[in-house]
Formats: sequence, structure tokens, C-alpha cells
Amino acid sequence: MSVEHVSVSSPTKTFDVEAIRKQFPALRQEVHPGKALVYLDSAATALKPQVVIDAIVNTYAVDCANVHRAVHSLSQRATASYEGARESAVRFLNAAGREEILFTGGTTDGLNLVAQAFANPSWDRALSEGDEVVVTELEHHSDIVPWQLLCERTGATLKVVPITDEGEVRLEDFRAQLSAKTKLCAFAHVSNSLGTILPVAEMIAAAHEVGALVAIDGAQGVVHQKVDVRALDADFYAFSGHKVYGPTGIGVLYGKKALLDAMPPWRGGGDMIDRVTFTETTWNDLPYKFEAGTPNIAGAIGLGAALEWMMGVGMENIAAHEAELLAYGTKRFAELEGVRLIGTAKHKAGVLAFVMDGIHPTDAGSFLDADGIAIRTGHHCAQPVMDHYGVTGTARASLGVYNTEADIDALIEGLKKVQSIFG
Ligand code: ALA
Repeated sequence: MSVEHVSVSSPTKTFDVEAIRKQFPALRQEVHPGKALVYLDSAATALKPQVVIDAIVNTYAVDCANVHRAVHSLSQRATASYEGARESAVRFLNAAGREEILFTGGTTDGLNLVAQAFANPSWDRALSEGDEVVVTELEHHSDIVPWQLLCERTGATLKVVPITDEGEVRLEDFRAQLSAKTKLCAFAHVSNSLGTILPVAEMIAAAHEVGALVAIDGAQGVVHQKVDVRALDADFYAFSGHKVYGPTGIGVLYGKKALLDAMPPWRGGGDMIDRVTFTETTWNDLPYKFEAGTPNIAGAIGLGAALEWMMGVGMENIAAHEAELLAYGTKRFAELEGVRLIGTAKHKAGVLAFVMDGIHPTDAGSFLDADGIAIRTGHHCAQPVMDHYGVTGTARASLGVYNTEADIDALIEGLKKVQSIFG
């Protein structure tokens, strides 16, 4: 795929956001007459660049075949592109090899895959009564409910690390929940509702000190910065395609090879087997052991295109651009009377969540939409976070690679207008 029209290759060069924006067809629309789209909801799902759309269309329009199953040319091409996408994910995460990259339906699916393994007594790491699973208070529901279900099935106990009022996870609070009983820790790399960047490397090291394994919810983690799973020493790292400018319904679960080798398979079906008889069935090699059935072929190929596109733009460029925008947005929010930012961690990425005096987030969101400004409102699938702040929901503007200071200005002016409407 071609990225020659992206005029950036290192963080020291000028980041040409206009050249980036031109690659996103969705940005060319007016949401209402005269109201061009201002898209500030990338944490919910990111817009897709043309190169990703083309990769998906080409899969259905040209290389339309099943993978791993036939000798004909279309199937060979589809298989090469599908496995090429896996190689892109290997480089994107700096995994040790393709055996460590499982295609899943998304972050939620990946975390559930890990959870079910810990509930399967045929794995020697399966949990039982007396064992503990540690999560944090800022998790997305996808990183709470699978572990609650796991604890229900195994008799293990779920422990929760509290957050500070800034929305930070302090290392000492995390350590306080760890003991020899801790078998698994699960936490986000970056909070979807607050934007907090967690000290994941230090948390992983602390969890390993007590012998626990670590699963990272990387749905927002891979979006705003370069992630190196080997440098982090993560045991499992899950992310979704649609947050990284790729398609919905596809994601990646990274797992250390030794763990994936030892883990029992989850879903049974085609492709995940070596030999099937009615007396015994044996499993395919990694990664196929965990990829039963015809996979989301176009999704994986679209995701591969998205990862190549991000690497072509440069993860350092993306991180630098978004950090500048976040700082600008935080400064501009300070101008607004009666608006409180929720989530003010020192290390943050991509999210400006807020509440307004006397104005419900949904009302703010609806009035902003009338001006073409898209934000998300509600609990953001993180009700415990809302409980911490004593609110039922927030309004959340979230940033992507294509956003500009003009987008932030439009949001601030939009909010001033909402305030004037509500008197
Ligand atoms: N998890 C997504 C969000 O934060 C849907 O909006």
C-alpha cells in the first residue's frame, strides 16, 4: 500500500495534517447543510483512510476467496494478504513472531479468550478458589466483566485498585493489591473514559514479581503511541482494528508463544485442528489453534493496511501531534466557566472528558451535533469511573491523527454556544 502522499517520516519533520486529512473521505462531508464534520469521537471509532477502504474493497472485488484452503490463485492471493496482515501486526507490536499474533473480533473478544483459558481446568494456570485477579477502577466494562465471569466460574476473587481524583493509578496502590494469591492482573494501557496513560511497564514488572500473569487492554493504548510488547514484557495485549483506523469486527490478541502453546484452544471448528477423529482431535499449530472457522478475511486485510498506514505516518509523529493537540485543548478548556474536565492525569492521551454545570452531557452532544461536531456522551462503558466522580456520564471529545486546533476551537465555540442557549 502506498503512503508516499504522507509527507512525514520523522518527528523532527513538519507534520502535514492537511495531507493526512485528505486521505479520509468521511472528513469531506457536511453533517448538516453548511456544517462540515468536526470529528472528535475517535476513541469510539476512528475514521478510515482511503488505503484501508481500498484494501477491503479489493478483497471482496478481486481476491474474493477463502484462506488456507485452496490452491487456486484467488485463494493464494487472499491467504498471502491475510498472513501479510499478521506480519504487519508483528511489526506494529514488535512481537517475537507470527505465532504470537491471533486475529480476534476485537479487544473484548481477545480479553474473553484469555479469561476462558484461565477458567479451563486443563490448563495448569487455571484459577481456583483462593486465587485473586487484580483490575483497576478505571477499566472499561470489557476489562471488568470477563474477569467477573471468570471469578464466578472458578471461585477466584476480583480485587480492584482505586484511582486518584485525577484519574491516575498509583503504583503503590497497585502493589498493595498484589500477593502470592494474585494469579492474573488486567488493566488498560490508556483509559478510554479519562485518557490516563497507566504506568504499564512498572505494573507488569510488579505483577511478575508475585508470579502473576498480565493481560493488557490496549484498545486505546496502541492508538496514540508506539507499543512494544516485548519491551513491556506483557503476557497478553489486546487491541481492536477500528480504533487504529481499520475496520470493525477485527482485532489482535498478542500472547507470549509459550503461554499460547500451553493454553487449551477455545472455539472448536475448521482451521484450528490438526487431525479429527471421533476418538481424538489434535490441534493445529499457533496461531491457527485459536482461529476456528473462516476468519474475518477482509477485516484482517483492512487492519493490516491500517497498521501499515500508521507505521508509514510514524507512531512518533502521531504521538507528538496528538500530545500538542491535547495540551492545546486542555488550555482552551480552562477558559470555560462552569465546565470541569474529568480526568486530569499527568500522563494522558487523546481524551478531553468533561461535565458542564446545569447541562446534561446528552444535551450538549445534541447541540454540538447541530453544528457538525461529533463527540460521545454517556458512561463510555466505564460505569465504575462515573461512580468514582459521582456523575452518571460525561461528554467526551477524543482525538485522532486528523484533528487540528481548528477542531478544538470549533468545540470550544460550540460549548460556549450551548452555554448561552441554556442561559
Ligand atoms: N470503547 C469505545 C469508547 O470508548 C466504544 O467509546
